[in-house]
Amino acid sequence: MRICIINGPNLNEIGTREPEIYGTLTFQGAMDLWQKKYPSLDIELFQSNHEGAIIDHIQLKKKEVDGFIVNAGAYSHTSIAIMDALRSVNQPIIEVHLSDIYKRESYRHHSYVSEVAQTCIVGMGMKGYEKALDLLSEKA
Ligand code: DQA
Repeated sequence: MRICIINGPNLNEIGTREPEIYGTLTFQGAMDLWQKKYPSLDIELFQSNHEGAIIDHIQLKKKEVDGFIVNAGAYSHTSIAIMDALRSVNQPIIEVHLSDIYKRESYRHHSYVSEVAQTCIVGMGMKGYEKALDLLSEKA
């Protein structure tokens, strides 16, 4: 089963960025753990700070993968364009946020990605991605 994780802006700095909110584990460290924990899954991690690059990647991968895990970072709260790209995906989409966006500033409470994702997991840190991998595996 092929799963594409799409991470948006500033998520490349997780590990050092605001560790009190996002934790200290890097995505590279997490990927090492997930590849061991889910040997039957083919997990690709894509990260970009650019809205258009994220849309291009969704359009490319929707022909190839069995599910998406999306954390569009701040674009979750602003990007109708990313929502539209995800709208044309036929595979399951799970939205993940490391922090609990509903307990933070009000401008983080609405997510355009939530309009198209089947499930939204918040506030579990990197474990939220594992929960998403579990859910996608169950759907297979
Ligand atoms: C985030 C929450 C967003 O509001 C923020 O802009 C991020 C990270 C999270 O994973 O908690 O960049 O998506």
